[in-house]
Amino acid sequence: MSQVIVIASGKGGTGKTTVCASLAVSLANKNKKVLVVDCDSGMRGVDLMLGVDNRLVYDMSDIVCGNCDINSAVYQVRDLPLYVIAAPISADDEIAKKVFKQFIDKLKGNYDYVLIDSPAGTGTGFDIASYACDRAIIVVNAEPISIRGGQTIRRKLLDLGIEDIRLLINRFDKERFYMMGMYADLDEVIDAVGCRLIGVIPEDDRINALSQRGYIGLHWSPCEVIFDSIVCRVEGYDAPLLIE
Ligand SMILES: Nc1ncnc2c1ncn2[C@@H]1O[C@H](COP(=O)(O)OP(=O)(O)OP(=O)(O)O)[C@@H](O)[C@H]1O
Ligand SMILES: [Mg+2]
Repeated sequence: MSQVIVIASGKGGTGKTTVCASLAVSLANKNKKVLVVDCDSGMRGVDLMLGVDNRLVYDMSDIVCGNCDINSAVYQVRDLPLYVIAAPISADDEIAKKVFKQFIDKLKGNYDYVLIDSPAGTGTGFDIASYACDRAIIVVNAEPISIRGGQTIRRKLLDLGIEDIRLLINRFDKERFYMMGMYADLDEVIDAVGCRLIGVIPEDDRINALSQRGYIGLHWSPCEVIFDSIVCRVEGYDAPLLIE
């Protein structure tokens, strides 16, 4: 049965889009059929990170408004079983949450996983993205403002009745973390956000460079192995956390 997972965070820039694109590539490499839907109207980015931006003609608003059929606005990533629907280029074209949910419900049967890239915060973009999902991954950086944002997102998701919520700690830098002196260890971060850990991705310049150039999955990065292990956990299997 297909699963719809929203990738969310309270604070901006925690790495949601990077995580969404990387998990999508890892799932597709395991032969899962994946659809990534960008919900960040006005600030879309998944198309760039997955390298389909220069082919984009239509986005989600074109499908909903009837300017094109669904297939014309679904862009395949390389030769992978991975597809992208871009967010509208203008925030004015944001789609109503009930319409978006109907749209996702109609599409999801064709895919093993639908990953929704939410904008930061708890505004309408998050409302729309979370209304359509069954599960959630909250992306935080191990620092107080980001963690507080994670708590807020968790509460909002619980209010919506979403119980399968996992925590992904991104851009982890051990030295920086202990120098900050706010938390004794990562367990304190996990307890503070209040949901089960699904993985820890280190700060890695390579992932930054690859994502900016649309090269995720094309060139090897040390984080790939970690994303692969997170994907095992997404699928419900045990896998080592690979935290150094
Ligand atoms: N593990 C990482 N190591 C190094 N850089 C990273 C890592 N994860 C993300 N980045 C970088 O952090 C920046 C923000 O990432 P990204 O756009 O994915 O965040 P976001 O949460 O989607 O932001 P927004 O809230 O604006 O949507 C990008 O430059 C990205 O390349
Ligand atoms: Mg983003």
